[in-house]
Amino acid sequence: MQTKLKRRHLLAGIVGLAGSAALVKIAGSGTSFAEETTAAEAATPATGTLPIPDLLTATDEDGVSVFTLGTQSGTNTSLISGKSITTAGYNGTFLGPTIKVTDGETVRFDVTNNLDDETTVHWHGLHIAPSNDGGPQNTIAAGATWSPSTTINQGEACTLWYHPHGLGTTADQVALGLAGMMIVDDGSTANASLPNSYGADDIPIIMQSTAITSAAAFGITNASFTASGVTLKFLVNGVSATDETPTLSVAYGRVRLRLLNASLTDSITLALSDGATFTQVASDAALLPSPISISSLRISPGERAEIVLDLTSSDAAATLQATVRNTTNGTRYTVSMLSVSSTATTAADTLPTTLNTVTALDTTGATSRTFTLSNSGGTFLINGVAGTSMATMESNAVMTTLNAIEQWTITNSSTTIYHNFHLHDVPFQVVSVGGVAASGANTGWRDTIEVPPSTSVVIRMQFTDYADNEYMYMLHCHNVIHEDDGMMLALMVMSS
Ligand code: C2O
Ligand code: CU
Ligand code: CU
Repeated sequence: MQTKLKRRHLLAGIVGLAGSAALVKIAGSGTSFAEETTAAEAATPATGTLPIPDLLTATDEDGVSVFTLGTQSGTNTSLISGKSITTAGYNGTFLGPTIKVTDGETVRFDVTNNLDDETTVHWHGLHIAPSNDGGPQNTIAAGATWSPSTTINQGEACTLWYHPHGLGTTADQVALGLAGMMIVDDGSTANASLPNSYGADDIPIIMQSTAITSAAAFGITNASFTASGVTLKFLVNGVSATDETPTLSVAYGRVRLRLLNASLTDSITLALSDGATFTQVASDAALLPSPISISSLRISPGERAEIVLDLTSSDAAATLQATVRNTTNGTRYTVSMLSVSSTATTAADTLPTTLNTVTALDTTGATSRTFTLSNSGGTFLINGVAGTSMATMESNAVMTTLNAIEQWTITNSSTTIYHNFHLHDVPFQVVSVGGVAASGANTGWRDTIEVPPSTSVVIRMQFTDYADNEYMYMLHCHNVIHEDDGMMLALMVMSS
């Protein structure tokens, strides 16, 4: 909880654990605690054709919330009629349940691997010790169970996700459907003032631009997306928006959509079909300092963003369109990915104007590093190194120390290929993009950021809380095809 205060100034003093959110909310709404609790319990679930992943229920073991996940393989026979596509998921045959945790909660994840292949599970964006991070060192053999535990120490309300992270096998396994969402509640007034009833007015939206090959398998290479006989499908929570736009109807005037681009390689730009503006409240790793009004939102692979739609006014009966672009930014297609409507008749209260406070890290005397992203044909490199073996990862590890503040310049030296940059362990602040000071969604904490061709992005971060002289964190491009083809390095945070 120490670092929580360091990273984020709580907006309303000490509001700690689950339950207090309701208490804070009543202060603003004037309803009694009893009414608020009843209202929360009675939240009307959203309806429509959009599947909503189940919320994973934890079992309590002496104060530890135990979440049980199992990988399993399956088949999908509905995406292309007459064809059976091999899939995989957590606790099901495609995608996984949503895990919701609260700052201060002690958790354990019991992950059993029921696949025939080795896997890992990485908690993307979670501030957790390297030995529990689920990177390439945390392999789970077929049939084995891995049980990392931690006390949630995020200090931010955010939308994270979990997915495999084996060396060289990430794209293969994510493509099968191994991805799930994780929601962190920091107990803040700001988070409580946004829609937060899961499945009612707070909805996960997992987007995947997929290629289904002529052999009826999910494509795992760049070339598979343009190969002959390929069928491109845009999946939203596992169903094809390419075939039929999913619908979502909520009983509230406002809905929060937690957007995740879980595509292997494609970026996704969202807009409302009528061109109306909508509100972004969070990017990757935290609520933004203030809500921002936008008319389009570009999300690169691995990134998240949270938006809020006001369904009784300007965004009523909104249809979100997704424009999908390949790694050289060529448009593949545009699809109507979700129709949202509300049965509420009264407008929602106004959103708070302040959601978060980000205090700039003081980089005086900080270590500076540069990372150059490049490729040589199909080999992808960071600073000339292709991280394709554990020996290479170890011998080229970036070494830092606990609590170090650093400033990094990430340069994409390609003139055509888009990359992005994801850092494990801690979120970063964006200083500049292409020499221009950070603005908009880059004014909040992030853990993944797009790095366009011939562009440099400057970020700064502090390596708080967790050090390990054996286990590595990763930094990489989250185009997972590039990652598997070498665009990844290790980071060691040493205790001194
Ligand atoms: Cu989402 Cu290193 O990963
Ligand atoms: Cu990650
Ligand atoms: Cu890349």
